[in-house]
Amino acid sequence: MGEGELPLADRGASADGGPMLELRDICKTFSDRHRTVVALNHVNLTVHRGEFISLVGLSGCGKTTLLRITVGLEEADSGQRLLDGVPLSGVCRDMAYVFQDINLLPWRSVLDNVTLGLEARGVTRGERRRRAQEMLALVGLTQFASAPPYRLSGGMQQRVGVARALAIQPKVLLMDEPFGQLDNFTREALQVEVSSLWSRLGTTILFVTHDVDEAIFLSDRIALFGPEPGKLTEIVEVALPRPRIQAEVAADPRAIELRRRITTHLGTADGRKGGS
Ligand SMILES: Nc1ncnc2c1ncn2[C@@H]1O[C@H](COP(=O)(O)OP(=O)(O)OP(=O)(O)O)[C@@H](O)[C@H]1O
Ligand SMILES: [Mg+2]
Repeated sequence: MGEGELPLADRGASADGGPMLELRDICKTFSDRHRTVVALNHVNLTVHRGEFISLVGLSGCGKTTLLRITVGLEEADSGQRLLDGVPLSGVCRDMAYVFQDINLLPWRSVLDNVTLGLEARGVTRGERRRRAQEMLALVGLTQFASAPPYRLSGGMQQRVGVARALAIQPKVLLMDEPFGQLDNFTREALQVEVSSLWSRLGTTILFVTHDVDEAIFLSDRIALFGPEPGKLTEIVEVALPRPRIQAEVAADPRAIELRRRITTHLGTADGRKGGS
């Protein structure tokens, strides 16, 4: 896409836009004949406009459940979700969700995968194609627009997933371990890409990861689940200047101290992979 066609935020620093998404006292228990699991135990979280916030916690602590409840794919037992101060019920169309599994439809071209969310929102065909092309340009995949997904590498497919989510111009972008299945090199390249998209577009992002270094590199704040599943127990600020460079962040004493604090909180000896 051409420069300036999308609302560019270009702030590069942390968000200051006031509360946008509020999760209040969210509880969720799953039970069947065999077991009862408290997946979320009175979770409170406020995400500010334009903020990049990560959720970090051990496997099974409730991260995906919290994202699914946030967008409305799952219903909480109790608690409230608000977007711009308005209580939500059902699936929220102002949010987009990037799944860990790369779930492109194999029978559709890359472009037609990007238009999916726009079809569901009744956007006209011409406008769908125009926006999808813009988004593909944004993630550097213009030349693959008419290709079938199988011709793309895992990293490229995940970029299509990001383009698809951004195409609906969501108020909040939810990302559930989007790079978890990618090799280190591809993951680091995509971290840089997402960070730069976020900084240019000003999208508010709620991001789930196991990888403490990934969370530190990307986030304004990191919300930590404690050792006890289902409880958000601490929120830490990442007071590192932007733009960030991975190698510099890795060597920064403030990041090293933050990493130590987070891994101690999680109870993991090796913070690179926080849980699973
Ligand atoms: N639909 C469901 N039915 C029953 N139990 C569920 C369901 N969804 C999640 N759970 C349970 O709720 C708990 C939280 O699951 P969730 O998927 O939110 O964890 P997570 O933090 O995303 O884990 P991971 O890091 O492995 O993805 C787990 O014990 C899980 O087994
Ligand atoms: Mg999960």
